[in-house]
Amino acid sequence: MKSKDWLNRNKRDFYVKKAKKQGYLSRAAYKLIEIENKFHFLANSKKILELGAAPGGWSQVALEINPKIEITAIDILDLKINHPQINFYKDDFLSFDYSKKENYYDLILSDIAPNTTGHQSTDHLRIATMLFDIIELLEKVLVTDGSFITKIWKGSEEKEMIKILKKKFKLVSYFKPDSSRKDSAEIFIIAREFIK
Ligand SMILES: C[S@@+](CC[C@H](N)C(=O)[O-])C[C@H]1O[C@@H](n2cnc3c(N)ncnc32)[C@H](O)[C@@H]1O
Repeated sequence: MKSKDWLNRNKRDFYVKKAKKQGYLSRAAYKLIEIENKFHFLANSKKILELGAAPGGWSQVALEINPKIEITAIDILDLKINHPQINFYKDDFLSFDYSKKENYYDLILSDIAPNTTGHQSTDHLRIATMLFDIIELLEKVLVTDGSFITKIWKGSEEKEMIKILKKKFKLVSYFKPDSSRKDSAEIFIIAREFIK
């Protein structure tokens, strides 16, 4: 094994072990913790919509940081956490009925990920298709000045996506958490101050 591969594998194992020890349902929890340490969204949000929420590591982090937060969590798989402030819907984010939640959320989180093929540009196109749908949804559910945080796997559609987001938000930036493998195409887009 090359030393870079070894380092990456080691780091992945480190966060898996750490999550187990600290009682988090996913190693992804650490990515949200890092995002929060830099941007402080959760501390300042009341109602969040979480897309691709299972098994529930991000929900755990959100409630830990802000015990008053209300979460609408959506996933096609089961959430492994039960909490009075989490309204979980086992559904495809595209079929969910958002009509009762118009202009409702001040933060939209997406860690949604399609099944991967291992072929980087195919996987990128799959996640990008989902994200373009989510971006259309923002108009309906996100409040003015609200925020949107999403994972993306880098690739060809990213430029167009950033262009669209820059028209909808006053501030758009990238963030690569330390807990995200260096060799992965994963990066987070942080969009702030939604313009209606
Ligand atoms: C990386 S995981 C999310 C991990 C989560 N942030 C956590 O910390 O536990 C990505 C999730 O996206 C979900 N997903 C994929 N396609 C979806 C869809 N069309 N609608 C809703 N959820 C979907 C998957 O089922 C998976 O649970």
